[in-house]
Amino acid sequence: MKHLIIFLCFSILTTPLSIAQSSRFSGNAYLSPELLALGKDEASNPLTLWIDQGHELWGSHCQECHGKMASMANSVVHFPKWKSDSASKGQLINLEDQIGICLSRKSPKKWTNESSEVLALSVALSDAAKGKLIYVEEPKDLQARQAWQEQMNLAAQIYTRRQGRLNLSCTQCHDQKIGIQLRSDVISPAFVTGFPIYRQSWQTAGSLDRRLRACYSGVQAAVPPSGSSDLRALELFLKKRSEGMAWDGPSIRR
Ligand code: HEC
Ligand code: HEC
Repeated sequence: MKHLIIFLCFSILTTPLSIAQSSRFSGNAYLSPELLALGKDEASNPLTLWIDQGHELWGSHCQECHGKMASMANSVVHFPKWKSDSASKGQLINLEDQIGICLSRKSPKKWTNESSEVLALSVALSDAAKGKLIYVEEPKDLQARQAWQEQMNLAAQIYTRRQGRLNLSCTQCHDQKIGIQLRSDVISPAFVTGFPIYRQSWQTAGSLDRRLRACYSGVQAAVPPSGSSDLRALELFLKKRSEGMAWDGPSIRR
């Protein structure tokens, strides 16, 4: 009897998790065969140039403090991070924000998630992190952890709230319409395993920040400005939702 109970508890604990793991597909699984092939072909993949530029910048701007790029690859799967500061309660920053902070140490100017140097470094770091498992770190400090949890709760609300002229929530598309064709795209479950992306319709690389704004615009909602706290909270929520999945590296999208 005792063994049966232990067995039942074990099954209950492990089964849903393993089902959830095996049925979670990255955005790459929803691409056309042509785009998938482009992503695998180093010679014609536009991201190859971004990776090369990122390595050059690493050598001139980052290496002196951080050593080899590979030593930083874990950050890719751990961000966004809670940054405590004395002026405010603190805030979430994503990898591109951190790269901007660090770039300013050598070249002071206002770096954004859209600056090409920031994106090149992010693309190269993302490439170095291929295969690593996504794992979001909670802040250790109690007060920071509460503030971090508030951001997670806020994002869960945004994710499930209908918005825009189309009156659709994130979950209505990315959980309830997976695999359905929307214009020329097939709706994926929105796991964040492969950023930054090179999006053909942008003709350039872009961060998750930009991809999320495109989804707001898609439902004709007010688009939050790049870097807004709602976008960072959503990034945290989506990363948490993708926890345990393997990182694809920078990806091609339509
Ligand atoms: C009308 C349906 C729709 C709604 C609502 C919507 N999206 Fe999307 N989203 C798409 C489509 C289409 C794409 C491009 C194809 C894909 O990857 O799913 C996309 C792409 C994404 C991606 C990139 C996935 C990848 O691997 O490239 C993420 C992340 C994402 N959406 C998150 C969100 C969030 C968060 C919201 C709510 C703020 C949202 N979306 C609302 C349709 C929608
Ligand atoms: C002068 C030293 C210095 C240089 C140069 C520098 N960094 Fe940093 N970096 C830091 C410090 C210090 C931190 C710890 C967080 C902070 O203070 O911002 C950090 C943190 C980071 C992190 C976050 C690590 C983690 O997991 O928390 C990343 C990613 C990063 N740097 C990337 C870069 C990149 C990319 C460059 C080149 C543009 C760069 N750094 C250049 C000092 C530097």
